[in-house]
Amino acid sequence: MKKMILALVASSVLALANETTINATMSLMTQGMNQIQAGFLYSNKEDIKGGLTVLENANAIFSKVDVSTFIAHNNKIQVTHNINKNLDKNIKGLKKAIAAENYSDATREYGELTANCIACHKIVRGW
Ligand code: HEC
Repeated sequence: MKKMILALVASSVLALANETTINATMSLMTQGMNQIQAGFLYSNKEDIKGGLTVLENANAIFSKVDVSTFIAHNNKIQVTHNINKNLDKNIKGLKKAIAAENYSDATREYGELTANCIACHKIVRGW
């Protein structure tokens, strides 16, 4: 009995941690995207770089979150893993474009980044 209760407590704590982590991580993702956008609009490279660092950190945490727990009828887990990889690819691509001061590539990468956010939310929320 004691063991069972312990197991129950442990699993609900884990679920809670996952949800807290995802909300905190997503809030960081949003902050990073906003900072990058402001950097583009005000022609401020430092803001773009700062936003990228925020995104990189958020993505490092995010890669450890089990997204499958958020998908009700989950036959699309692999898709979310692929989106995750694309996100990583676009973050790296944007970083490279900014270093090269190639702003047309940079805005393209930024657009693709946004598309990845929406693609996963579409699956998660059935949007
Ligand atoms: C691989 C999946 C995936 C990707 C990619 C993803 N998210 Fe999310 N996001 C989630 C999940 C899961 C939730 C939590 C469930 C929900 O809100 O429907 C969430 C929730 C959110 C929320 C709402 C948080 C809250 O407190 O309600 C925001 C804002 C958000 N994401 C922003 C972003 C941004 C910005 C990006 C891209 C840089 C992004 N997400 C990429 C899966 C993803």
